[in-house]
Amino acid sequence: MLKKKTATLLIAISTFCLPPAVYSQNSDAKMKTYIDALMKKMTLEEKVGQLHLPSVGFDVTGPIVSKGVEENIRKGLVGGVFNTYTPNAVRKLQEMAVNESRLKIPLIFGYDVIHGHRTIFPISLGLSSSWDMDLVKRTARAAAEEASADGLNWTFSPMVDIARDPRWGRVSEGAGEDPFLGSAIAKAMVVGYQGTDLSLNNTLLACVKHFALYGASEAGRDYNTVDMSRIKMYNEYFPPYKAAINAGAGSVMTSFNEVEGIPASANKWLMTDVLRKQWNFNGLIVTDYTAINEMINHGMGDEKKVGELSLNAGVDMDMVGEVFLKHGVELVKSGKVSQAQIDAACRRILEAKYKLGLFQDPYKYVSEERNKSQILSQDKLDLSKEAAVKSMVLLKNSNEALPLKSNQKIAFIGPLVKDQRNLVGSWSGASDTYKNARSLWSALELRSDKSNFLYAKGCNLVDDSLIRNKLNPHGGDIIPDSKSPQQLIDEAVKTAQQADVVVAVLGEAFGMTGEAASRSSIGLLDNQVELLKALKKTGKPVVLVLMNGRPLTLEWEDKNMDAILETWFSGTMAGPAIASVLFGEQNPSGKLTMTFPRNVGQVPIYYNNKNTGRPFDENQKYTSKYLDAPNTPLYPFGYGLSYTSFSYGDIKLNTASMNPSQKITASMQVTNTGKVEGVETVQLYVRDMVGSVTRPVKELKAFQQVSLKPGESKMINFSISNEDLMFYNSDLKMISEAGDFKLFIGTNSRDVKEANFKLVK
Ligand code: NOJ
Repeated sequence: MLKKKTATLLIAISTFCLPPAVYSQNSDAKMKTYIDALMKKMTLEEKVGQLHLPSVGFDVTGPIVSKGVEENIRKGLVGGVFNTYTPNAVRKLQEMAVNESRLKIPLIFGYDVIHGHRTIFPISLGLSSSWDMDLVKRTARAAAEEASADGLNWTFSPMVDIARDPRWGRVSEGAGEDPFLGSAIAKAMVVGYQGTDLSLNNTLLACVKHFALYGASEAGRDYNTVDMSRIKMYNEYFPPYKAAINAGAGSVMTSFNEVEGIPASANKWLMTDVLRKQWNFNGLIVTDYTAINEMINHGMGDEKKVGELSLNAGVDMDMVGEVFLKHGVELVKSGKVSQAQIDAACRRILEAKYKLGLFQDPYKYVSEERNKSQILSQDKLDLSKEAAVKSMVLLKNSNEALPLKSNQKIAFIGPLVKDQRNLVGSWSGASDTYKNARSLWSALELRSDKSNFLYAKGCNLVDDSLIRNKLNPHGGDIIPDSKSPQQLIDEAVKTAQQADVVVAVLGEAFGMTGEAASRSSIGLLDNQVELLKALKKTGKPVVLVLMNGRPLTLEWEDKNMDAILETWFSGTMAGPAIASVLFGEQNPSGKLTMTFPRNVGQVPIYYNNKNTGRPFDENQKYTSKYLDAPNTPLYPFGYGLSYTSFSYGDIKLNTASMNPSQKITASMQVTNTGKVEGVETVQLYVRDMVGSVTRPVKELKAFQQVSLKPGESKMINFSISNEDLMFYNSDLKMISEAGDFKLFIGTNSRDVKEANFKLVK
């Protein structure tokens, strides 16, 4: 085996000079020389081949390689593959490329490592609720350690699409609605995945997606049309993509939607003007899955035409669609696409491989030893639990229903109490990942007070056959109980009657969020609400523990439940994490990163909206409002309770005016006024009172987390600079404008103190 490995490497080495082991900015010249020499040897077919990214399925015995893909790898007509992992499976394909293709160019191996690989962390929306950038970075780092030990070197993450419409199932994959927080998270993730040196064997090339505006699909329906003004793009939707690029993300994925009437994968303005020219992005651009072919449906022309549009717009790599593979050569020969365009695309893909160190050692990510030591290692499990705890958001807690007391008899009720399958959420595809997930019940059984716990299933997770029939053909795993819904409720009520307190564990099935999982109503399913109503009637206090992947409409629950804990789909260690929060061993500190509406009619609803010319005034008829619901959400952006309470002092500004070269310090005393230690995320928002274009009523500009013991106070200091006051004006120039500003500091975007200051020029 060792001999074979050495021989393989030598063949690769003898074909080209050995590139340096470590890539850095200073290595640009060497990389260019190396790739120039390689590209001189490549035929047009081989260059086009590099632009091809097929998906190679995986099963326990190894990769299922369709004949065509194997043959193409051997012919040097594949740049990389995705959906293949494990050292064995990766080695097998890499050997084909390196031993059998003419130029022995190694493959790049991609995968959707979205919120962990084998050790699963909370879904991205959940993790964003931690507001803890170091934690976000550490989870991305751990995911990179694990995935790279499984043969992978490229992740299709971070997903940084701003999302304001909870009907869209993919809100679960991103960081919520805010460009400032979204940018901070994008950066933390890129740095976590890529580390400081991409050529190390424990780093992954990051891929920022979906460029661009995918989160704004009309009516929250996946893949739907997007239409947006440029000023909105630049101020509200572009910042997280740009932050990821500035953090050094090595690749970008195009989105399925159209942007200004042109599908993203053919949008030259987007890819060439914005991404490459304005943002200086020099990494590789890959399409989303068959996004080029789908432009036929968009009405952009036949397969050859959409291939031409895509290449000329600046796409480098075609995911799965084989459009470049089929038509690339002919498009060049017929003059529709220039040789230079193909060369540039091919070069970027080779550069990515070079930066990853694959020319130096094509098998550097293939290590059984690392695989054994890294996958599901104790430190990752610990991190998974930490992340799960820090992601949870306490939405309501009346009469100190939480934490649970150890001497109480507690009825745990609901189809998610013993569930493993749903805890890991969508995008946790690495084989059987969910089987490692620890259910809440398994964690409860490890407790010394376990004899106090009762259980009843209470209802099916999904009774709605419309939903079930859409999910099950695609791995939904929703199996209705043999007992009737009424029998399940009756059992649950009986169980509840024997208890002091009821903990109902309900929510969505994992397949109800993620890709192609939009919903037109976003409450708990009717059968679950029936169960809650029956439990409420017992007169026992009811704590609702939610597992789900989007903001839900919870008006009834908010009125009728004693406590509500949002746990999202919190990953491999969900069970132990939830148990430790329920029993008060950990104090929840998560804050929402997406607004929870009262009803779906309020959608899209987000905190950084514009004021309008007729802001709501209850004494006036002709103001912006609904007749049948308030304008305000149920739970605002930034909201989340704790088992303790915090009080905020008044804002102190060191000066009430600044010029662009100065800074203002805003200080605020925060005190833990409760009985237990807790972490508070102190949030600072700004409003530009008068502008040459309309400005949002509030914009998050800073936040800090502070841990306080009972009775303890700390002074929190924020520094505001000119940069914090800048925005894109109607000429799309980034400027600040002199005038009055309001500054808000508080515990969420609604409950704030305020002060005024001026920017003078
Ligand atoms: C389609 C999804 O939109 C994208 O996010 C994902 O990375 C690719 N499929 C590859 O699985």
